[in-house]
Amino acid sequence: MNEFLNKLTSIVGPTHVQTSGDLSKYEQDWRKRAKGKALAVVSPGNTEEVSLIVKACLTQNVSIVPQGGNTSMVVGSIPNETGTQILLSLQRMNKVRTLDALNLTMTVESGCVLQQVQQAAEQAGYLFPLSLGSQGSCTIGGNLSTNAGGTQVVRYGNARELCLGLEVVSATGEIWHGLSGLRKDNTGYDLKNLYIGSEGTLGIITAATLKLYPMPAAKLTAWAGVQSIEQAVELLGLAHRTLGPALSGFEVMGQFALSLVDKHFPQMNVPLWKENPYCILLEASDNESESHARAQFEGLMEKAIEAEIITDAVIAESLSQAKALWLIRENITMAQATEGLNIKHDISIPVSKIAPFVLHTDALIAKKIEGVNIVNFGHLGDGNLHYNVQAPQGVDSKQFLIDFEHDINTLVYDSVMEYGGSISAEHGVGSLKVDTLKDYKDPTALVLMRSIKRALDPQNIFNPGRVINSL
Ligand code: FAD
Ligand code: MLT
Ligand code: ZN
Repeated sequence: MNEFLNKLTSIVGPTHVQTSGDLSKYEQDWRKRAKGKALAVVSPGNTEEVSLIVKACLTQNVSIVPQGGNTSMVVGSIPNETGTQILLSLQRMNKVRTLDALNLTMTVESGCVLQQVQQAAEQAGYLFPLSLGSQGSCTIGGNLSTNAGGTQVVRYGNARELCLGLEVVSATGEIWHGLSGLRKDNTGYDLKNLYIGSEGTLGIITAATLKLYPMPAAKLTAWAGVQSIEQAVELLGLAHRTLGPALSGFEVMGQFALSLVDKHFPQMNVPLWKENPYCILLEASDNESESHARAQFEGLMEKAIEAEIITDAVIAESLSQAKALWLIRENITMAQATEGLNIKHDISIPVSKIAPFVLHTDALIAKKIEGVNIVNFGHLGDGNLHYNVQAPQGVDSKQFLIDFEHDINTLVYDSVMEYGGSISAEHGVGSLKVDTLKDYKDPTALVLMRSIKRALDPQNIFNPGRVINSL
């Protein structure tokens, strides 16, 4: 094994192969659901080095866990406990390679932090719209490998829709140069879309060509209170009809979710949460002007109040007010993590069925466990809820998971299926949902997925045990 580590050292240099010291930032998952042990943490500086590392690992039959910012919600980016896998950190590969203003594209290395990409686009006068609460630490490679969603999907789509080309190191160590900035290219199978969302199980993304958009002339943000989940969905319909394509964000937040932000971040002054079972955060991005956007937005709020869909609303008057409202929404995850371990669900349901799903499932859970807390929030505009379950007050969260996680997952996912949904909307499968997927995914789809994995990674060296756990 020493010889193997020497080989890795000769590829990336001695400071970029770590085998000792505190490696917990690579080995512990964000949600504290699991901790692994790496044979070594290896940090390449360029694509050729990644290729050589893969070839070295193939010879020794050592598996590779790719990692970007390690913000996975589903235990997808840490090594297992055996101490035999290498953790491939892409963080050093963080250069913006090019920005093509006329083609509205930029090409970046996969270790670029999302916020860095947003800022580079903004400095050139363009928008890269992918936005997640983890944007200060997650990377483009991780975003594409999980096909991340976030808060702007309703207008711009998820990570897949924002990517025009990839550079990938395959499981034979070869480099696929697919960094086209083409919007049309029908020359056979769509390799790009196979790698996107494959969670590091098919190849290592080393760079990507991303879509840029013109900066909107104005952005408006509002926070509204509604008395029921039905009214939340009704407001979404009205927002679509009134704002058309200008609707760029539509988030729902349940009362208990907001109570956790109020408890753990009291300085944030959460509006309207005490008197409303749900609050909505809406955003419109207008390409005309601030006054046009404001008139449309105020019109929407007036209509919603007249129709008694919302009880009250706050329209942000400045950028800093808008940011403060978004910060409340983005901090639900941290507030929930501070409260303790929890059962997280990342589900999607057709928007038209969200309300019946929530009413039905809330009732089933309440009947099963007295005093249980449902932390329901998410991207209602995309039909994507984080329908999470937290231990009743005073119950140890670790014990709660041991006692109830399996049963609650079964209850929620059975209900998701009944309403025509998916058990993973945007976070992926990782190891946390790999067994569950077997029970809920179409069996033919699973057979096809296994054939793809066998064809592209026959030695199963890329992130084994994630997404599918048997070949
Ligand atoms: P990692 O966690 O490091 O890895 C994720 C997966 O991708 C792993 O399977 C890993 O092996 C693989 N991978 C990473 N880099 C590469 C690469 N270069 N090549 C091949 N495989 C690779 N997700 C959403 O979709 N929407 C949200 O709104 C959202 N909000 C979040 C808010 C918070 C506070 C947190 C902590 C997480 C949130 N997430 C969200 C989840 C997470 O941030 C995303 O999944 C993100 O895309 C992961 O990026 P990462 O760089 O941290 O990837
Ligand atoms: C979010 O929407 O905030 C993220 O997906 C993270 C989470 O589910 O907690
Ligand atoms: Zn989310």
